[in-house]
Amino acid sequence: MKLILGITGASGSIYAKRFLLHAKERCEVELIVSKNGEAVLKHENCEDILQSGVKIHKIDDFFAPPATGSSHYSGMVILPCSMGTLGRITAGTSDNLLIRAADVCLKENRPLILSPREMPLSEIHLENMLKLKRAGATIVPASPHFYKHPKNIEELVDTVVERILYHHLTIASE
Ligand SMILES: Cc1cc2nc3c(=O)[nH]c(=O)nc-3n(C[C@H](O)[C@H](O)[C@H](O)COP(=O)(O)O)c2cc1C
Repeated sequence: MKLILGITGASGSIYAKRFLLHAKERCEVELIVSKNGEAVLKHENCEDILQSGVKIHKIDDFFAPPATGSSHYSGMVILPCSMGTLGRITAGTSDNLLIRAADVCLKENRPLILSPREMPLSEIHLENMLKLKRAGATIVPASPHFYKHPKNIEELVDTVVERILYHHLTIASE
């Protein structure tokens, strides 16, 4: 199983960091990071993701395997997902490798999980999410839960990360 992890310029880089840590134990992971995703990773002190040893595709490389449906990926997770990327996927712009890879997942009926992080949500955000859900994507908001009494930020973040990983592994093995 080979999964694409897309990282965009929404806040919450630690979600991507923890997801990569857990996902690497279960499957192969390749990264696509948007330009703003890279800036926010640095701003939130998570740029070590970029040195984690996994394959990182250049954001403007449309010759890279994730750009085509003939490459075999088990699907894609976008975490955290900005409203900008969410809107561009909805519009089908395919104007960078991350958006194109998501577009490929939708057209090939492969699991695409988006974890949006924004508040409050505008009517445009909500309409885009509904359209993506109807197009086959799974929307898993970065909404941590507290009922297992997390003792630190990592445990809190993992309540989201584990749900996303579970969804991907379940949908991908169907
Ligand atoms: C520090 C920082 C935090 C941001 N947090 C969010 C956020 O939580 N959600 C969001 O939709 N955009 C957020 N943005 C704005 C996006 O980075 C911006 O809309 C950008 O164009 C997204 O580009 P991308 O989707 O290609 O990464 C943030 C920007 C900065 C600088």
